Amino acid sequence: MNTGVTTKDILDVQNLSTRFNMVGHTVRAVDDISFSLNGREILAIAGESGSGKSATILSLLRLIQPPGEISGASRVFFEGEDLLGMSEAELDRVRGKSISMIFQEPSASFNPLFTVGAQIAEVLRVHLKLSRIESLRRAAEVLAQVHIPNADKRAKDFPFQLSGGMLQRAMIALALACAPRILLADEPTTALDPTTSMRILDLLKERTSAAGMSMIFVTHDLELLSGFADRIMVMYAGRIFESGPADSLLEEPLHPYTRDLLAAIPRPGVFKDSGRLYSIQGRVPDAGRRPEGCAYHPRCSRAVERCRAEEPALIRKGSSFVRCHVHE
Ligand SMILES: Nc1ncnc2c1ncn2[C@@H]1O[C@H](COP(=O)(O)OP(=O)(O)O)[C@@H](O)[C@H]1O
Ligand SMILES: [Mg+2]
Repeated sequence: MNTGVTTKDILDVQNLSTRFNMVGHTVRAVDDISFSLNGREILAIAGESGSGKSATILSLLRLIQPPGEISGASRVFFEGEDLLGMSEAELDRVRGKSISMIFQEPSASFNPLFTVGAQIAEVLRVHLKLSRIESLRRAAEVLAQVHIPNADKRAKDFPFQLSGGMLQRAMIALALACAPRILLADEPTTALDPTTSMRILDLLKERTSAAGMSMIFVTHDLELLSGFADRIMVMYAGRIFESGPADSLLEEPLHPYTRDLLAAIPRPGVFKDSGRLYSIQGRVPDAGRRPEGCAYHPRCSRAVERCRAEEPALIRKGSSFVRCHVHE
């Protein structure tokens, strides 16, 4: 829980901008965002597909490939050092060791040609300089920690021999093997059924809390976040539209976009008579052709003339922040 007690920031992101230079236009995927992550905190980044969530977390570890480019004014301080100013060799010592990442698809993390245990052991040998025997023993241990039954035996399986849920657990074990300070999780449960998803979320919360880690959890699905995230940051068109403590953001959303996202979540009973689910009208703007003023105005039911002309600033509202003229 974010109690308001100041825990020292473990990550401090300042003026992060990432764009993709396409032929004829530039996509501003991340547009001058600043935020911090506290020790032991679960921060969620939410928003529809295309809002810049993945580009944000990939930028933190400088994993953006050309034609993508992180602006020179961007800063990502981890334990006082700017990750964006480090050499490739220095950053390689951070990636996977102090800050590790899990993805939607385990195939992004595992090589099909090696056993799951051997791949976890390899990471332990590289980053922690463990011996071969010790690293294999430890690999089975971390697989057991993510509640994979018969972990000793499963460690000798190839990725294709594990079910989707078990492979996702193995990917979490791989990410946690070196006891990182920060876990970055990009829609890690989207490919899974709802029951398996909830189990994976429980596991992530249990392991991060047990290890005193912080996590940034990316999702398009606000529904997952109740009882899970401490703080939520809602993104749209590369900008932060709202951020605040998870409870208040989910119960009393400030931004019309956050409200629309929450209204789009199917709830048993609520839509019984309407015949169809509510969804937000229109679609996320192509970041290369962002509307003038507030980027959400063409889809917003509360838009007034000013919203078409002038972009609102991100302003403080109690313990939250919101970017909307209605709240000025
Ligand atoms: N490799 C790429 N090349 C060109 N445009 C990209 C690339 N990756 C992302 N984008 C664009 O950047 C914007 C943000 O994308 P992304 O961060 O993947 O969104 P999200 O993760 O929220 O779905 C989108 O407009 C997307 O089309
Ligand atoms: Mg994404």
